[in-house]
Amino acid sequence: MYPIDEIPEARRQSPPRPHLAPSPRRWAWLGIPVVAVAGAAWWWLTPASTPVASEPKPAPTMTSVDLLGHLPYPEAPAQDLQAVTADGRVKLHRDAAQAFLAMQSAARAEGVILVPLSGFRSRQQQEELFYGVKAERGQQVAERAKVSAPPGYSEHHTGYALDVGDGQQPGTHLHESFEQTAAFAWLQKRAAQFHFELSFPRHNPQGISYEPWHWRFVGTPASLELFYRARARS
Ligand code: DAL
Ligand code: ZN
Repeated sequence: MYPIDEIPEARRQSPPRPHLAPSPRRWAWLGIPVVAVAGAAWWWLTPASTPVASEPKPAPTMTSVDLLGHLPYPEAPAQDLQAVTADGRVKLHRDAAQAFLAMQSAARAEGVILVPLSGFRSRQQQEELFYGVKAERGQQVAERAKVSAPPGYSEHHTGYALDVGDGQQPGTHLHESFEQTAAFAWLQKRAAQFHFELSFPRHNPQGISYEPWHWRFVGTPASLELFYRARARS
């Protein structure tokens, strides 16, 4: 006899019973339930655990053309830009500028003051914003990218996008609280008539923070293609 410690533990717990000891014919019948149980287990588990080969996988929201959720955009040529403020500091592509000025007049006629806060931005200006201001705040790039596009990836480069404020509530400029203003309510109702749309609504597929103040012009084939082709590639 072996001392108990030398017997493998599994065998210690279920020692062979001497009177049933092994004649191959006596044990052969055990194979039937074993095969049946194994077969049933295979049948039960296979459909749940093995993916069906033809099952469609959800398409990824973005591909290699995006950078931290932003899409690449060309810089508008200087000769295409037109000022939309008296001091000339805010410029838009001339098509967007004319549409914005018409929209601004329509809003003013209804007592709403739309203020253009930022329009065309060069790659250089975006670089200062992305690497300067945001870095000063100690933000990681992924965090910065939720509120500012990396240089080369801002809709502002195109001259077709602008940030709008409410002249009667300057405290809401570039804040989510802009959505409480008369200007935002007016834009929601009327901007589409002037071919402006919100670029970053809540829960947008790009994962960019909600920007109720950021509107883009899609009223010409060139602007429409610029924004919607960028998305089609993504
Ligand atoms: N704030 C938007 C995402 C931009 O920087 O273009
Ligand atoms: Zn903007």
